[in-house]
Amino acid sequence: MSVQITVNINGEDVTREEEPRKLLVHFIRETPGLTGTHWGCDTSNCGACVVLMDGEPVKSCTVLAAMAEGHAIRTVEGLERDGRLDPVQQGFHELHALQCGFCTPGMLMTARALLDENPDPTEAEIRTAISGAICRCTGYKNIVAAIRWAAEHPAAVEQEA
Ligand code: FES
Ligand code: FES
Repeated sequence: MSVQITVNINGEDVTREEEPRKLLVHFIRETPGLTGTHWGCDTSNCGACVVLMDGEPVKSCTVLAAMAEGHAIRTVEGLERDGRLDPVQQGFHELHALQCGFCTPGMLMTARALLDENPDPTEAEIRTAISGAICRCTGYKNIVAAIRWAAEHPAAVEQEA
């Protein structure tokens, strides 16, 4: 059995016939051009699949696509605006906050949600915010520094453009 599911992703409605059990992470990744959201564990542990649902970070491997109907989903592809990087993206670039990059989309979306709610987080608050995301490469130091950089440069990209 399949059902019609419409999910608004990065401002555009995406409609497909899917099985009701389809996970949001797969719905997103099977949408052309939207493979930036990673799928790392399927057990709600790694955080690579984090997207924003109505501005709140959610692990998209724990949400059914049908549950996202009527909600606004923002993925890592939706961070860039008019060709300009979001400050969290710029911060990761400036501070070299990634190695293999597998965790990066989830980290970026988690960071964006944090800064939207708390524009000036302490290091402890940043570490708490990203505690649901696993990075096997970096040791987290530069990720935390990059998020602080973004907090300190909220308009950095606009200034440099
Ligand atoms: S794939 Fe969702 S938490 Fe790992
Ligand atoms: S950069 Fe490799 S998992 Fe984080």
